[in-house]
Amino acid sequence: MAAKTNWYKEAVVYQIYPLSFMDSNNDGMGDICGIISKLDYIKELGATAIWFSPLYASPWKDYGYDISDYKAIHPAFGTMEDFDELIRECHARGLRVMMDAVFNHTSNEHAWFKAALADKTSPYRDYYIIRKGKKDKEGKLIPPTNWTSSFTGPAWERIEGTDEYYLHLFAPEQPDLNWENPKVREEMAGILRFWLEKGVDGFRFDVFNMISKVYPFKDDKNPLHFQKGVQYYVDGPRMHEFLKELNDKALSLYDTYTVGESYTPDEEHAYRYINEESGELDTIFHFEHLAADNIFGLKMIPKPFNLRQFKRGLIDTQLRYHGSGWNTLVLENHDQARCVSRFGIKKKYRYEAATFLAMITYLGWGTPFIYQGQEIGMTNTDFKSRGEMKDPVTHFIFDLAKGLHVPDSVSFRMMKGAARDNARTPMQWDASVNAGFNKGAEPWQCVNPDYKKINVSADLASDKSIYRFYQKLLALRKSEDTLIYGNTIEYYPDDRQVITYSRCYGDKRFLIVGNFSGVRADFIMPSDFELDELSIRMTNLGRSDAEIAEVLHLEPYEAILFEENR
Ligand code: NOJ
Repeated sequence: MAAKTNWYKEAVVYQIYPLSFMDSNNDGMGDICGIISKLDYIKELGATAIWFSPLYASPWKDYGYDISDYKAIHPAFGTMEDFDELIRECHARGLRVMMDAVFNHTSNEHAWFKAALADKTSPYRDYYIIRKGKKDKEGKLIPPTNWTSSFTGPAWERIEGTDEYYLHLFAPEQPDLNWENPKVREEMAGILRFWLEKGVDGFRFDVFNMISKVYPFKDDKNPLHFQKGVQYYVDGPRMHEFLKELNDKALSLYDTYTVGESYTPDEEHAYRYINEESGELDTIFHFEHLAADNIFGLKMIPKPFNLRQFKRGLIDTQLRYHGSGWNTLVLENHDQARCVSRFGIKKKYRYEAATFLAMITYLGWGTPFIYQGQEIGMTNTDFKSRGEMKDPVTHFIFDLAKGLHVPDSVSFRMMKGAARDNARTPMQWDASVNAGFNKGAEPWQCVNPDYKKINVSADLASDKSIYRFYQKLLALRKSEDTLIYGNTIEYYPDDRQVITYSRCYGDKRFLIVGNFSGVRADFIMPSDFELDELSIRMTNLGRSDAEIAEVLHLEPYEAILFEENR
């Protein structure tokens, strides 16, 4: 069944991590005025919407994913007037605006949490999840359950001077909200309406499928669970009800687009979250393909790249939702390593791999999300020391590894390739000081030393411009309904080198083929395609129509888009 048309299905979303995008006042931190100065760059790439990682007031214990005031802009980013200007400037260019909705937890500096701790009778007490500790066999006070936080360590923090604990599924500075409390749900709907009234067009919901917990709380007795308690807080019993309520009270009152950041959702739940009839979310992110080079959930433990696993993640989600909902297509974000520096890709193939990855990903079925810097092939940083890495999670993991007696040199090598810091180095605009991110003040996070070679100016001046390749690819996608709405059909799912799928809409078909390896690969044309009906619509390594044959010898990271002309 063909999907219903909608603006967000035709959209291309560009993600900005504001701290690292453009620093207009030379204080070492990116800001809203800096973003406004670069909107034409984003528009010209072919993006039609921008998702802003948190711009809100925050003590930055998790760089904005710990919000202390949902209705205020962080002063380092600018003022509310700057934000209003940002919306106007985006809309003037036809760019929609998406905010990050971090609703599972607040900052411990949020006024609600402070009031909750200050007074046991405060109504804000029930905004959070506070429980008495238990006594162990020796009579020692221990947390209410054995759950562990996603950021390592226990998920409960003792409230000083009491025998009570509060739940935090992330850092101790990120207390979980109690969504069972109708007042919390009312506040959240109100926050959405506040931003929607300002003209915001959509939201990315942070770890959305952790907001409903299973009551009463129990210990996780499964010895195989590295992260304890997941079955009690992922895809919980009231998830669907809570999402519907947010829709009824806020989202459905406006023409919005929503995407949920899912924490390994159960397939059946995922289907319900995004089903067009269910009125919950429009889409969710899937990251299964990004686990094809690491042990899932433990990004810093690498494993050899497994293309079959990558294909199952990238393609299965497309097949699963045809006719029922919509999908997203992602290669990077602020939590992931740079795509050209992973999946076993060697440095010398940076251009080939960047263009190949863009083709095999964004010619698929779903809304493309592009992370800042990905469009010029920014790479992982060769960090020299732990001190250069600012992400608190990097340090939690270093400490965990130390506790397990892993030598520092080993954990450092592992973390370097996987750390979220790789995505958070300043955007590389040109070869001037600090990559043109600012005028010379020390950036909050060090600049990748490769910026003299890899930057926007150099890329645009090069014959092998990755930005221009993205531009061409996105324009092509936009011009062909088949590449937006057409169903995906996979070929050769077990092939360990080549990824192949077609997109079909009515009687129109395209075939996408790519060699996901650093050595040549043979590709045999699927039997339901006739050679004389094919032409090459796009190629990253300059294939010509004259070379179309039954068997093609694909170069490393070569990708080809065939069009069927009948
Ligand atoms: C997911 C966000 O993408 C990540 O950056 C953040 O640390 C966690 N959620 C906690 O909010």
